Amino acid sequence: MSEQMKKITEAEQYIRERITFLPEVALILGSGLGILDELMEETTVISYGDIPHFPVSTVEGHAGDLIVGKIGGKPVIMMKGRFHLYEGYDVQIVTLPIRVMKALGVKSLLVTNAAGGVNTSFQPGDLMLIEDHINLTSMNPLIGKNESALGVRFPDMSDAYSRRLREVAVRKAAENNIPLQKGVYFGLLGPNYETPAEIRMIRVLGGDAVGMSTVGEVIAARHSGIEVIGISCISNMAAGILDQPLSHHEVMETTEKVKQKFLDFVVSIIPEL
Ligand code: 6GU
Repeated sequence: MSEQMKKITEAEQYIRERITFLPEVALILGSGLGILDELMEETTVISYGDIPHFPVSTVEGHAGDLIVGKIGGKPVIMMKGRFHLYEGYDVQIVTLPIRVMKALGVKSLLVTNAAGGVNTSFQPGDLMLIEDHINLTSMNPLIGKNESALGVRFPDMSDAYSRRLREVAVRKAAENNIPLQKGVYFGLLGPNYETPAEIRMIRVLGGDAVGMSTVGEVIAARHSGIEVIGISCISNMAAGILDQPLSHHEVMETTEKVKQKFLDFVVSIIPEL
């Protein structure tokens, strides 16, 4: 067995021994949005630091727990806090949780993030359904010998963000009167926010929102056949759009304000995953 498969299996077994039912749905919640556990039932909380090969997340506002439980009767596994490439983690480590969740039986992934608005029709506090992404993080979790137990060498990405689940999201948003933007998530390495010139470039290239997470996780998920739905919280406008500097404080403040709307939306989608 390869080193990578050994790590996945050891982490999977550690978690499996501590839970009483297997999760079907995975949730990864971005900065300031990791509050769903309050609505979960029959929870088991496992600290990242206790799971073999899991690193500990370092950014302020990012917690570090894996939580297994039920939402509306659906067995879920939630990453409360995620790993980012800019923290210096290897892309294999950033995506290890995805592989472990797949090994535990997860079929679909709901991924969220805080992102900067590039599309000038967006406003801070908007929710954006991710229709597609552009990976310019300079990283890819599939680099190296392909692990055929996980997936194929050249995975198709034409339905990376599941059409079926996007339709579910649009329907649920309408039913619950939640305004929903749609667009392309542009993934960069970070950790600095972009320059105004970079934001103009991203807009020309087709990005509607920009962030430092998600794309690697989605690539790993699609590689192993997990169906994906993604939602960005537009926490601020990207550089050069408004006449004001960007700050992590603003990101946290906006996500704090919209988290109830965000939570309602996510919870309404989960039964359909
Ligand atoms: Cl403006 N850029 C990036 N890369 N990530 C962000 C952001 C901007 N706002 C929130 N997250």
